[in-house]
Amino acid sequence: MTVLSPRPDLWTLDPDVLHLNHGSYGAVPRRTQEVMAALRAEMDANPMAWFRSVADQLTASRLALAAYLETDPAGFALVPNASAGVTAALATLPIPAGSRLVLTDHAYGAVRYAAERFATARGATVLNVSIPLEADDDTVVALMAAELDGASVLIVDQITSGTAKVFPIDALVTAAHERNVAVVVDGAHAPGLIDAPASAGADFWTGNFHKWPASPRATAGLVVAERWRRATMPLIVSWSEYDERLPERFDMQGTYDYVPWIAAPESLRVLADLDWPTRRPQLTTLIEEGAGLVAKALHTGVADVIHPPATMRLVELPASVDLTVAEALKTRISQELHAEITFTGYGNRKFIRLSAHAYNSLDDFRKLSERLPRVLA
Ligand SMILES: Cc1ncc(COP(=O)(O)O)c(C=O)c1O
Repeated sequence: MTVLSPRPDLWTLDPDVLHLNHGSYGAVPRRTQEVMAALRAEMDANPMAWFRSVADQLTASRLALAAYLETDPAGFALVPNASAGVTAALATLPIPAGSRLVLTDHAYGAVRYAAERFATARGATVLNVSIPLEADDDTVVALMAAELDGASVLIVDQITSGTAKVFPIDALVTAAHERNVAVVVDGAHAPGLIDAPASAGADFWTGNFHKWPASPRATAGLVVAERWRRATMPLIVSWSEYDERLPERFDMQGTYDYVPWIAAPESLRVLADLDWPTRRPQLTTLIEEGAGLVAKALHTGVADVIHPPATMRLVELPASVDLTVAEALKTRISQELHAEITFTGYGNRKFIRLSAHAYNSLDDFRKLSERLPRVLA
């Protein structure tokens, strides 16, 4: 097997910083930044000509992004982020008064807020089902299925954010549909980490290209099942309001910066050049070894979430660490240790969530494990 070298040279990340949190905001490769700069120059050389060209450029980009997801382009719309995808889905689905929106207690906070907003507006309620961190797939499905009677919508993460756990989406979609419950899959972290991530047949699936595929920020997709395509509307009302085609309806969102959407496929080409199908399992080896080093330095362990994603792991924090000051601690780690990480928690357990991307090497994790005890021991 070819061992692929880390390629920080393809990014413009500050070499004096340990970048170990790709999972939060991604990082855009140099080549994509150059494409964006060229597009912006074109836009500002002749804004009128640029905006005349946008529709065709968006079509080309959308088709490339849908092909990457292996999904039907007629049901694929561009949205700025997964939060917008979830919001558009909840704005479309019928939520009868008295019904329940069901989530897990691993759901992303802002997605929970979206559920709360729509539940309140429609006279429904929100139920957060508790799923133990160590639950296996069968347990997850059994716990969720037991709460679906009387539900209108199930909202479930494909890869959880705070707990870096993969949920069994296919089985959850089946269980929900057997009970006539619509499903919104929050696949924010799925593109790049799960192949054909929108294939489970959910009513709505949304996922970010600006995380693991390293596309420019504000690039995400919404995949809509055929029966909802006519009814699904973008959050901004604009000139394509009466376009019968779902993707085109979402394309034009008024005067807006379309550069990230148009440049996004360049990052997919970078990933292809990085031999992503070979690289991803090697990043799994890297994150496992790296998280192990950090856990050893902190005298803790790596959380066993049973089904972790390819490139993220949770390292348990010592009990003495106070996460009520998590933001201040992250700032201190950034400024004093020159390292970027994030903290998460589940129940009363506290974690560092670590990420590995193609620009990382084991040396990054080794340096983090040498530096962290100074602040966290
Ligand atoms: C599971 C999950 N859902 C939703 C989001 C929100 O993504 P965005 O900020 O792109 O809307 C995130 C972001 O990290 C996430 O991890």
